[in-house]
Amino acid sequence: MDALATPAEMRAWRGARPGGLGLVPTMGALHEGHLSLVRRSLAENAATVASIFVNPAQFGPGEDFERYPRDGERDLRLLRELGVDAVYLPSPAAMYPDGYETWVTVDGLARRLEGASRPAHFRGVATVVTKLLNAVRPDRAYFGRKDAQQLRVVRRLARDLDLPVDVVACDTVREPDGLAMSSRNAYLSPPDRAAAPVLSRALAAAAARFAAGERSSDALRAAARATLEAEPRAAIDYVSLADSASLAEIAGEADGPALLSLAARFGPVRLIDNVELG
Ligand code: PAF
Repeated sequence: MDALATPAEMRAWRGARPGGLGLVPTMGALHEGHLSLVRRSLAENAATVASIFVNPAQFGPGEDFERYPRDGERDLRLLRELGVDAVYLPSPAAMYPDGYETWVTVDGLARRLEGASRPAHFRGVATVVTKLLNAVRPDRAYFGRKDAQQLRVVRRLARDLDLPVDVVACDTVREPDGLAMSSRNAYLSPPDRAAAPVLSRALAAAAARFAAGERSSDALRAAARATLEAEPRAAIDYVSLADSASLAEIAGEADGPALLSLAARFGPVRLIDNVELG
């Protein structure tokens, strides 16, 4: 497995391998969700690059950039064992050198949900993903549906900036108790870890109402909220039922494809989850 440290090294590596290439962008602390993206990329492409970069630009002041889990040795071992061809590990200085001042912003879509709670988050994500795509120049890039808004933001920027990449959506991987896999799960306290599956139960409660024919957006949000509120360790940030494409909140009936999404804090750890309805 090759290791590339700068955009120039990455571009030179890609230049020497003109075949089909998949990119799995990550911030490390790899879990089974990441590994499922890697396996899919390996199956669909002649070669696969995984990137590991904890992107400071997508963390707001007071968020968890400093204590974001990092385990480089383990990540590299897992990627090597899976058969990844190269890992791209740029430093912050390689990505954002002195004098850096160019940012990618996606309007509308990126201001809702996570964007409302974390105002600079998607500017950081859109910028780093554009830079990763530009350095790696993959044919396909793999993103998890757990970060549903991120997936839509990346699809939009690829379309709007005419980037020649197929953005591939991969299903959320869950723990046996339903908790969506996330690097942040690692720093849940034991009681918060025990409480956190309430997120997937809240989604399931609303999805069951939807399956039974309920279409009132207020009733569907209320079903999810009631389940969350029954768990005292969950501090709710938002419960949203939004149009699946625009992520505009649905008023009235949910009669087209919709995204039900949640964010809640368990102690200092903020978790998100979602389900598609319809
Ligand atoms: O989902 C993530 O891990 C990050 O947001 C990404 C896409 C690697 C960009 O830093």
